[in-house]
Amino acid sequence: MAPVAVLVGVMGAGKTTVGTALAAQLGVPFADTDTVIEERAGKPIPEIFVDDGEDTFRAMERAVVAECLETFAGVLALGGGAILDEGTRKLLSHHRVIFLSVELSDAVKRVGLGAGRPLLAMNPRATLRHLMEQRKPLYLEVATHTVTTDGREPADLADEIAGLIARRS
Ligand code: S3P
Repeated sequence: MAPVAVLVGVMGAGKTTVGTALAAQLGVPFADTDTVIEERAGKPIPEIFVDDGEDTFRAMERAVVAECLETFAGVLALGGGAILDEGTRKLLSHHRVIFLSVELSDAVKRVGLGAGRPLLAMNPRATLRHLMEQRKPLYLEVATHTVTTDGREPADLADEIAGLIARRS
């Protein structure tokens, strides 16, 4: 079993919103690896960062992503930093991966002051800009399709991605 589509992109790209709309349109379940991690840990991601540290979070993320890529047959959204792991990038090379690209101004609007996102706790705009520059090559490396999200509605993006999936299957 494998996901119908895996969504990647920086925080604020709209992975959860678009993924939920896409899954509804395709009639398949939606899962977000952040949510699975929170369920397993029994606490929200900011608490995992504070209590256990980012390395522990990344180890959990690596395991949860690998498991979901093997067992989840719906639309799967990955946390923005999941692609930092080389092993995860290798696993993704066997999947349909959609990179939701977003400009800084749109991403910043969507994340606001970064509530629930520990990496953005200090200075969301500067941090996001840095993370986007650092990670864009990695998103492009794993992506089978890139979809530009700026100024677009989730339903419109879901339509476009559903079209890409239909053409390839
Ligand atoms: C992170 C993104 C978050 C979450 C964690 C770390 C990152 O997921 O996994 O806060 O490193 O970019 P979203 O991209 O779903 O917000």
